[in-house]
Amino acid sequence: MNVLGIETSCDETSAAVVDDQGRVLSNVVYSQIAKHQPYGGVVPEIACRSHVELIPSIMGQAVEQSGVGWDGVGAVAATRGPGLVSSLLIGLTAAKALALRLGKPLVGVNHLEAHLYSIFLAPGSPKPEEICPFLMLLVSGGHTCLLGVDALGSYRMLGQTLDDAAGEALDKGSKLLNLGYPGGPAIEKASLGGDPSFFRFPRGLQNSRSSVDADGLDRRFCFSFSGLKTALLYYVRQNPDAAKGENLKHVAASYQEAVFDTLLAPVENALKDRRYRILGCAGGVARNNRLREKLDRLTARFQTRLLLAAPDFCTDNAAMVAAVAAVYGLQHAGDPMTVDVQPNLPLC
Ligand code: KG4
Ligand code: ZN
Repeated sequence: MNVLGIETSCDETSAAVVDDQGRVLSNVVYSQIAKHQPYGGVVPEIACRSHVELIPSIMGQAVEQSGVGWDGVGAVAATRGPGLVSSLLIGLTAAKALALRLGKPLVGVNHLEAHLYSIFLAPGSPKPEEICPFLMLLVSGGHTCLLGVDALGSYRMLGQTLDDAAGEALDKGSKLLNLGYPGGPAIEKASLGGDPSFFRFPRGLQNSRSSVDADGLDRRFCFSFSGLKTALLYYVRQNPDAAKGENLKHVAASYQEAVFDTLLAPVENALKDRRYRILGCAGGVARNNRLREKLDRLTARFQTRLLLAAPDFCTDNAAMVAAVAAVYGLQHAGDPMTVDVQPNLPLC
């Protein structure tokens, strides 16, 4: 059965159609970046108004490009959390209306589970059952966590960030360096040709010993970016020329390197345990070429297979939402009128 998926958890308005195997037939993504850029970050009110204006035509384009026609849509799926409540509501409400109109089931999808599934979207990717159990690093603008994936729907949280998400650390760093929004791609661009060892910013929790805290998570598998961000703030204050001229590329590369080393240390700790032979990585930050290179090197050292989401499926898109619903969410399809948004929806 073909599934039409809708994603509006933040500032991308997206709709996609996948077939019953989760193969992507269309994936239309409208990025609102230009609308939020003047404000240096996502403005929820602008995001949800923009979703309202765009969603009907984005859904129409997704169905048209898929070639299946409205009659060929067997179910509707939409992200129901986590995300911005006002943005989630637009996509889920559109999905509800459509499901009722078509008389088809509705699946509410967890955004993090959709990101996780994005490593299986590109043609030629393995199927989840072929590679489970595996280790998964999720790195987006709102979340950073390390998971053990035993099967689809069966996840163990090994570690997560104690403060900012990796994407947030890049977005905030970019602001301090006057590079604009969104910070991840801006810092990646500014870092080109820069020396990542120019200045050594602190790497959070890098030497953590095994200790399980009240939240039940082992600190060896957790992340922290707050000290790093503060270090950049002081660096910029003490070196007013840091964000200018030749120096900028070196400072940007050094900061980016510290963010990625902070991300990699818990992954390395988990790989040392030799429990997992496969590492997956997805989410907006996984689009970064330097991070992809570093993960490649790390996994080669541990003879571990690396499965990266294809660049176009790293940032928010509806293909990953539709695919999760198609391959395993349909069994959880609910009455369209009772599915609701949950802005803090946990994954496990
Ligand atoms: O997964 P995503 O699209 O949305 C959330 O679910 O949060 O991730 C957005 C984050 C932003 O923080 C953005 O700066 C970061 O992904 N990002 C990148 C790159 N492209 C997007 N970070 C590093 N390098 C990139 N090329
Ligand atoms: Zn996302």
